[in-house]
Amino acid sequence: MKTLSNQATIWVLFLFFFSSAFAASSEGCKGTVQPPDALFYPNKLENTTITSLPKWAIDMMTERKETLEKMYYSDFPPGYTSPWGSYIYFGGAGTALLFLRFYHLEMETLQNGNGYYQGSMERATNYLEISKDYIDNALPNTLWEDEHIGFLKGRTGSLALASVIYSLSGDDTTAKEYIAEAATHYDSVSVDSPFDLDSGMAGMLYTARYLKKFYGKDMIEQSRVDNVASTLYQLGLKYYNTTIKALQFGPAFNGMHRIGEGLFGSGGVIYQLLQEDWLLNNPQALADVKSTIDYYLSTQKPDGQIYDDFHDAGKRIQWCHGIPGLIPIFLKAYEVFGEEKYLDAAKLGSDLVAQKGVLVKGMMLCHGVIGNVYQLFDLYAKTKDETYRSKAYSMVLTALQNPLLTDPTKWISYDCLASSFFVSTAGGMLSFFSDMLAHTNELEKLSMPAFGDQWW
Ligand SMILES: *[C@@H]1O[C@H](CO)[C@@H](O)[C@H](O)[C@H]1NC(C)=O
Ligand SMILES: *[C@@H]1O[C@H](CO)[C@@H](O)[C@H](O)[C@H]1NC(C)=O
Repeated sequence: MKTLSNQATIWVLFLFFFSSAFAASSEGCKGTVQPPDALFYPNKLENTTITSLPKWAIDMMTERKETLEKMYYSDFPPGYTSPWGSYIYFGGAGTALLFLRFYHLEMETLQNGNGYYQGSMERATNYLEISKDYIDNALPNTLWEDEHIGFLKGRTGSLALASVIYSLSGDDTTAKEYIAEAATHYDSVSVDSPFDLDSGMAGMLYTARYLKKFYGKDMIEQSRVDNVASTLYQLGLKYYNTTIKALQFGPAFNGMHRIGEGLFGSGGVIYQLLQEDWLLNNPQALADVKSTIDYYLSTQKPDGQIYDDFHDAGKRIQWCHGIPGLIPIFLKAYEVFGEEKYLDAAKLGSDLVAQKGVLVKGMMLCHGVIGNVYQLFDLYAKTKDETYRSKAYSMVLTALQNPLLTDPTKWISYDCLASSFFVSTAGGMLSFFSDMLAHTNELEKLSMPAFGDQWW
C-alpha cells in the first residue's frame, strides 16, 4: 500500500471492501467495480537493467498458470455459454484458443525443454482434446452475422480456429470444410460491412493470415483476400478527410473511426492493410495509408500518448485505447517505409507505457497490463534494443510482485476471472505466462494471441 498514491490507496481500500463481500462465494472476484482508467501501480524498476527473469518469477508463472487454468476450466466448462456469445473475444471459442496455446507450449518444449518448462505429450494431448471440446460447443453459436464478420468477433475467426484444431487432431477433411466455408464469406463484403479489426473486414484479413501462418501457404484464395483489402480501401476513400489527408472508415470523425483505438478504430485497419501485398503493390493506396499514419504521428503528445476525445481517451494507456495499440502500427510503418520518425514514435510511446507503471485495473489483454507488456517485448524483438526488454521485464516483475493484480487468492482487479480471455485478468495472465514459459530464451517468438503473427 505504501507504494500507492493517496487516490490509488483509497480506491484499493474501496475495492477491497467490495471484494471481501464476494470472498464468501466460490466465484471469487467479480470485478463489477472498474477502477479508473488512469490508475497505475508505480513501476519502480522502470530504469533498472534486467536481462532475464529471475527464477522466482518463472516459478510463480508456472504455478499460477496451473492454478488459473483449473479455475478457468471449472468455472467455464466447454458447454458454458457466455452472456456475450461464443466468439473468440468473449466466449468459448476464445477458451479454445487459450487451450490450443497450452497445447502448443507442451509440444514446443517437449523435445527440447528450455530449462524452465518441460512439456509432456500426455498434457499436450489432453489440452488439444479440451480445445476441441470448446470449439465444438462454441461453433454452432458463432453465426455469420452482418455486424460480426472478423476474427475476434465473427464466424470467420472461429472457423479458422476450428480448422487448426481439427487439423492438429488429424481430421483434415473437416479442417478443409471449415476453411471452405470461411472463404465464401470473403466474397460477400461491401463498403457497408463493418470495417474494424475487432468484428469487421480488417479482422478477415487477419483470419486469412492466421490460416497461412498455420498451414504455411495461402488457404483463402488471394483474389478473395484482395477483395476485402480493396473494399476497405474504397471505404476509406469514401470518407476520406481532406483536411487531415487521412483515410476514415466511417461518415463522421467520431470515436469509432478515430485513431487511438488499435482494435476498434482506423488504426487497426491500417495495421492489417500494411501487411497485405495488395496494398504494397498499389502505390496510390500505399501513399494514402502513409499519409494517414503521418496524421496519427502529427497528433502524438510530447509524452508519447495519442488519443482523441472519445471515451476520455487521453487517460487510457492500454492496448485497446491510446498509444499501446498504435505502437505496432508505427513499428510496421518503420518496416515498410524505413523512416526513423515511425520508430521514434513507437519508442516514445513505449517509454510512456513503462513509465506509467502497471494498470490497477488488471492483467487483461485489451484493457490491462498484458496488452501493454506485449507491445514492449515486440519493440525489443523488432529492434533488439535491450532497453525495451528491460522495460518489459520491469512491468512483468512489478505485476508479479503485486498480489492484488496477480495472486488469484488475493486479486481484486477488474474482471479477474471471466469467460473472456480478451477482457479478463485470468485470460491475460494465462495467455502471457504460457507464452513466456515456452519462449523464455526466444523472446522474439512471444506473440499476442489473435493479433500477433502466430496461430496459437
Ligand atoms: C526513470 O528515468 C526517467 C528519465 O530520467 C525519470 O523521469 C523517471 O523518474 C525514472 N524512473 C524511476 C522509477 O526512477
Ligand atoms: C476531418 O478531421 C478534422 C480534424 O480532426 C475534424 O475536425 C473533421 O471533423 C474531420 N472531417 C470529417 C468530415 O470527418
